[in-house]
Formats: sequence, C-alpha cells, structure tokens
Amino acid sequence: MKYFFLILLSIAFVFTSCNSEKKSEKEKIVIGSKKKSSPEFDLGKKLFKGKGNCYSCHRVDKKSIGPSITEIMKIYKEQNGDIIGFLRQKKDPIVDPDNYAVMKTNFARLEKFTDEELKAIAFYMNEVTAK
Ligand code: HEC
Repeated sequence: MKYFFLILLSIAFVFTSCNSEKKSEKEKIVIGSKKKSSPEFDLGKKLFKGKGNCYSCHRVDKKSIGPSITEIMKIYKEQNGDIIGFLRQKKDPIVDPDNYAVMKTNFARLEKFTDEELKAIAFYMNEVTAK
C-alpha cells in the first residue's frame, strides 16, 4: 500500500511536470511570434525612445519636428544611405538638409553612444518601418 501511494505520487509528479513544460513551450511560441521582437530591436527601441530622445522629434509614420522614421528610411533605402555614418557626422544629411541644424543638436550626446547602440537604433528604424 505504501508503494502504491509512492507510485501514484510519482505518476502525478511526472504528469504535472510534463504539463508545465507544454505550457512554457506554448508561451515561448507566443513570445516568438510577437511582431518584430528581438534583443537588437528591443534595445534600439529603448534607446530611440529613452536615452536617445529621438522619439521627441521622430514618430514612426507622422512628421513631427523631424521627418518620420518611415520617410527617413524610404530615402535611405532609395539612396543606399548610411544611418550610422550620419549619426557619427561622417555623412551629410540627405533627407532634409535645410533643417540639419535641428538634428545637429543631438550629435554631442550621440558621441557617448557605442557603435553597438547606434547599430541597434539603425536596426530598429529599419525594422519598425519594414512591411
Ligand atoms: C530636436 C529634434 C530632433 C531630435 C531629438 C532628433 N532628431 Fe533626427 N532629425 C531632426 C530633424 C529636424 C531632421 C531633418 C534634418 C536632416 O535631415 O538632417 C532630422 C533628421 C534625421 C535623420 C535623417 C538625416 C538625413 O540624412 O537628412 C536621421 C537618420 C535622424 N534624424 C535620426 C535621429 C536619431 C537616431 C535621433 C536620436 C538619437 C534623432 N534623430 C533625434 C530632428 C531631431
């Protein structure tokens, strides 16, 4: 009788641990299929909206103080532009040169960003507008 309970207990244990494994697999699929999420995308988004302060002048689809990310990416794709080069002041503006002075106010701050951070920002800008 003692053994019977032990066996019952272990069967119950195996059963529940199998179940929870299934559940976490399901959760993984949900997270994986979440639109456009990857560590680089999430970092870029965080920097774009947070430390980079880009979002206060650049929305995804609408023009605000600066051109929308969609407009920037359209021109950068057409002209094979180099966003990281631009953000490092190695490339001239190609989107709206008349308002370059406004964008220029960011460059001192951007000097403190690592190459990896700028890459993530450029990755985010590309992904968030990719159809
Ligand atoms: C104070 C407002 C402001 C902020 C903050 C700002 N921008 Fe801009 N940005 C502009 C304006 C205005 C333009 C249009 C002038 C131009 O094309 O250079 C622009 C243009 C750009 C362009 C296109 C440059 C080109 O080739 O003409 C890129 C890329 C860009 N911004 C990225 C960023 C990123 C990344 C950040 C955050 C680190 C940022 N901006 C923060 C105002 C801003």
